[in-house]
Amino acid sequence: MQALRKLIPGAVMAGATLMLGSIAAIIAPPVTTPAWAQAPTPPLPTKGQRARKAYEEHLRKMDEAEKAGGAKPAARPLPAPAPRKAAAPAPASTSPAAAPAPAPAPLPATLPSPAAAPPAARSAMSATEQDTATERGLDQYRRMMKADPWSNPALLDADRGEALWAARLGPGQVSLAETCDLGKGVGVVEGAFAEMPRYFKDADRVQDTETRILWCMQSYQDFNAAAFRKNPHPGGGQPVREVGAIATFIATKSAGMKIASKADHPKEKEAIALGEQLFFRRQGPFDFSCATCHAGTGKRIRLQPLPFLSEPKEAKVAIGEWPAYRVSTTHVMTMQHRLLDCYWQMRLHRLDFGSDVSVALSAYLYDRARDGEMAAPGVKR
Ligand code: HEC
Repeated sequence: MQALRKLIPGAVMAGATLMLGSIAAIIAPPVTTPAWAQAPTPPLPTKGQRARKAYEEHLRKMDEAEKAGGAKPAARPLPAPAPRKAAAPAPASTSPAAAPAPAPAPLPATLPSPAAAPPAARSAMSATEQDTATERGLDQYRRMMKADPWSNPALLDADRGEALWAARLGPGQVSLAETCDLGKGVGVVEGAFAEMPRYFKDADRVQDTETRILWCMQSYQDFNAAAFRKNPHPGGGQPVREVGAIATFIATKSAGMKIASKADHPKEKEAIALGEQLFFRRQGPFDFSCATCHAGTGKRIRLQPLPFLSEPKEAKVAIGEWPAYRVSTTHVMTMQHRLLDCYWQMRLHRLDFGSDVSVALSAYLYDRARDGEMAAPGVKR
């Protein structure tokens, strides 16, 4: 991990400094207004009672957040944009407004480490060069991981998840392996993740893998789901929690298969349609939609390329890698966690774990990624 930190100091820094002001300012390139932004924001769901209810609940929470003085993070004053110091290893801005970068000099054969380099060397490196160097570092790291898949720390969590799946727990001392149906029969894990989200008759709703696991834990093991939902995701450096570990294990059992989330049942169709509407609907204090950041090729925030998630070609590559080991926070991050983080970035209300809205967004993303390869656990920045 030390070696990795040396390789990607920029990425770690960007993670630490991805702050309010920068988000709005650095989405690039803001050249033309894409079609979705010119089109009127999509109307509320008109069909599907559950979808409408989920959406109303979402709007109610937005109202509450606004009445309480804005969604919590937005209530803090915006930090004044810090003046850019030329010498600082500032993250790259590809904004056309930025001063034209000097033609990039050829990169040295070994990767420079801006943190360790003397200040003069640091300032000599243009933003573009730093960017390229960081990308190369990440690429190299990914290649190393691919060459030796067992080096992915997420596999430790998958092992923990496997043990939790098999463990007899709760008052009835039953395991999920002998009670929980992930859609392919009780206890069947092979290929189950690839078909999520899907409709479950017993729960009478569409569930993604994580939501389903928690439902099973609550239903069969008397697990306190309400308490779990209050704090479902790990903080930086903490291991992923039980549900995420089990989800990681389940995902490994679909590795190499095609993403084939279900889209036959009316409620599955309804969830995908709601997800699509949420994806394109601009809202919140910044008036962002998911599409603001994720509906264009080559967009990035600082170091992070932003995948074009409504475009199957890019969705197929990105979505199948979740849950993923996230290098900057040194833990496994699940899709529910990823979506919660993007909600936070948009300054929307806290996305409830397993809520219909969270599942709908997932249903839409997996639908876009249909036929892509399941390659979880992946490795993300
Ligand atoms: C303000 C910009 C912004 C908005 C708006 C936004 N995201 Fe993101 N999203 C990001 C960033 C930045 C990352 C990558 C973070 C990283 O690499 O650490 C990301 C990553 C993701 C990923 C993982 C992509 C991958 O590489 O595998 C998914 C999925 C995602 N977002 C979904 C959404 C959804 C759904 C919404 C709307 C609810 C949304 N995002 C809104 C900035 C945004």
